Amino acid sequence: MEKRNKIYEGKGKILYETDSPDLIIQYFKDEATAFNAQKKGIIDQKGVMNNKISTRLFSFLSSQGIPTHFEERLNDREMLVKRVDIVPVEVIVRNVAAGSLCRNYGLPEGKRLPVSIFEFCYKNDDLGDPIINECHILALELATPEEIEIIRSYTFKVNDLLTEFFKALNIELVDFKLEFGRYKGQIILADEISPDTCRLWEIGTGRKLDKDLFREDLGNIEAAYQEVLNRVSI
Ligand code: TMP
Repeated sequence: MEKRNKIYEGKGKILYETDSPDLIIQYFKDEATAFNAQKKGIIDQKGVMNNKISTRLFSFLSSQGIPTHFEERLNDREMLVKRVDIVPVEVIVRNVAAGSLCRNYGLPEGKRLPVSIFEFCYKNDDLGDPIINECHILALELATPEEIEIIRSYTFKVNDLLTEFFKALNIELVDFKLEFGRYKGQIILADEISPDTCRLWEIGTGRKLDKDLFREDLGNIEAAYQEVLNRVSI
């Protein structure tokens, strides 16, 4: 697989064309940002760890019937993926209160939610990724009603699958963010799934194993990502 021109550089990843029009290379960086890039830093080896963690999680989800963009991990920092048009909607699921849910609605961190919360955000850094609902998605023409339904059903299934997957590793899936893309007329899961995009707490101790360590300056970030990688690799 030949690596060609850079297509796009985001906050955590770089995308490159390949000699196939249908496939691109996703390169994982060590750069970390939080609060819409108001906070910036480096998490040493994050790109390598997130590439491996995402590989494991996408492989697992694919094996369970979720269509994803994942093709193969090429090396430490690069993954070969299908070239999708990203639906500009971020989908967040929350099982336990944390982060912006606590800030916006006054809930205490760690409160178990009686029902999982499903949120859409408009993927637009200039606007700060505002929360939107289905009416906004249709009015802004971000996705069709059929696409929203497919995204919703895949996301609920991913929540069930990943909750059980992490529970077996003694980790609680607190919340996570997904992105979907259009590929040859189908909606498939895209982007990454990693401690950058999930909140993961060790069951029993409550130890945080995700990017909140960076967001909140709690330290031991690399060790936490490595711990997640070790556990998912078993
Ligand atoms: P939040 O509580 O900050 O809204 O984050 C909810 C979840 O979404 C959390 O697991 C982190 C993830 N997330 C991203 O992956 N990218 C983002 O830009 C934001 C704001 C959150």
